[in-house]
Amino acid sequence: MNAPHTSASVAPRTEKMLIDGQWVPAADGRELPVEAPGTRATIAMIPRGGAEDVDSAVKAAAAAFPAWSQVAPRDRGRLLQKIADKLEAQAEEMARILAEETGNAIRTQARGEARSAVDIFRYFGGLASELKGETIPLGENVLSYTRREPIGVVGAIIPWNAPVALAALKIAPALCAGNTMVLKAAEDAPLGVLLCARICQEFLPKGVLNVVTGLGEEAGAALSAHPTVRKLSFTGSTEVGKIIMRAAADRIVPVSLELGGKSPSIVYPDANEDWAVDGIINAMRFTRQSQSCTAGSRLFLHADIFDSFLEKLSAKLAKLKIGDPLDEASDIGAIINEKQFKKVCGYVAEGLKVAGSRLLLGGLPPSEGPLSKGYFALPTVFANAANDWRMAREEIFGPVLVAIRWTDEEEAIRMANDTHYGLAGYVWTHDIGRGLRAAHRIEAGWVQVNQGLGQFPGQSYGGIKQSGIGREHSLEGMLDSFTQRKNVTVNLTV
Ligand code: NAI
Ligand code: MG
Repeated sequence: MNAPHTSASVAPRTEKMLIDGQWVPAADGRELPVEAPGTRATIAMIPRGGAEDVDSAVKAAAAAFPAWSQVAPRDRGRLLQKIADKLEAQAEEMARILAEETGNAIRTQARGEARSAVDIFRYFGGLASELKGETIPLGENVLSYTRREPIGVVGAIIPWNAPVALAALKIAPALCAGNTMVLKAAEDAPLGVLLCARICQEFLPKGVLNVVTGLGEEAGAALSAHPTVRKLSFTGSTEVGKIIMRAAADRIVPVSLELGGKSPSIVYPDANEDWAVDGIINAMRFTRQSQSCTAGSRLFLHADIFDSFLEKLSAKLAKLKIGDPLDEASDIGAIINEKQFKKVCGYVAEGLKVAGSRLLLGGLPPSEGPLSKGYFALPTVFANAANDWRMAREEIFGPVLVAIRWTDEEEAIRMANDTHYGLAGYVWTHDIGRGLRAAHRIEAGWVQVNQGLGQFPGQSYGGIKQSGIGREHSLEGMLDSFTQRKNVTVNLTV
């Protein structure tokens, strides 16, 4: 384990937010600190935007909309491609900012995220010409066609766990389709998003993209309730997703929600092998402290391999290095903030007490030594868990994996689906027929067989049940989430 770096003596820089092409503080001058989870040092002060700032940003986006929506789609796409090139040129700077503010390790996570933002802008930039409509064959004397029109001002609210990738996933498709946007960055990780905004602003007309910083209950609530916002796109907790949906219901605006998960991983007896162990570690997103909505956090292991699989898993997990997110040697960084850290520790403490639990690895984090200087949680595995434990039902958003034994396949699938979430799922077996039958029966928006990788552009990604509604990462996602269809029907006989 390596020691966290110390930058506590460096004075925090002051950041501004982007409204109508200008970099501005909050109207009332209030600020919020941004803390580095690896050191607990305050690294920046950001505007604590409120209702007045949100209103200015929405007005700017509304004013920019008529002209932006009439830019030829190909030209909008070209601008997104230029943003991608600039993001690529600044990817290393972005990765360092991300590692410091999110606590995600630079080598295993932050660099990949900076690259993924480039890919997302490039992907959607290339799709501009696909904003096509249809013609409806009503006979020779009628021309009936549909147009894919932009919706208007989009209000986007994002979390902190992959802030720049998620910002890109809102900005690129929404702007490509001709909308303008007000994006509310997460209070815990706004700095990479502000760099992304700065790069976007070099190429975009003023007001097309506005980025507001501040708290959810203040700036976020004001944005979701603003009468001029015509579409809401949210990624974050199921709890806040419900609040957003209620705000949308009041004005009948469409909403996309990408919420939490408690995703199952079902391991068949023939997959008691190293590749499956590595895959489970990936699927659980241990190297991003499991702060991922798609984390495969319920591990259903067949009874025949239960102990031997867990032994291999623990041995591999024990080799991962936890420490300074900016250190190239670190595999695992820090939990985002004190609140989440305490929440994760609370689940671990409860797991240690629950009847029948067996701690295989990890446990409560050290209270002294170098790791105690930041929010470093240990990869933790509880064996002999039951699917009705709180740890097995609630999204922990931390590196706590529960292993549940199964013998009957029907029972494994029943337990996998016995959750109010439905975001992702994982199946592990050499028997591809069996694997695919299980994949089809898992109630989730995305099931991977024999791998535990991340999302990719082009995938219509999103959840079912309380994991959300709508899809955004693909061409269909852009069309469904960020355009509205209009039909025009013309009588050709006059
Ligand atoms: P959160 O859902 O409160 O925050 C996400 C975003 O929503 C932030 O930008 C926040 O400022 C904003 N927000 C919060 N309250 C709001 C409100 N009333 N109106 C409008 N916007 C609001 O998530 P938080 O508190 O950071 O994490 C809590 C839990 O949420 C985590 O433990 C995890 O279970 C889940 N989560 C899921 C994520 C996902 O990717 N699906 C990402 C982050 C958190
Ligand atoms: Mg919250």
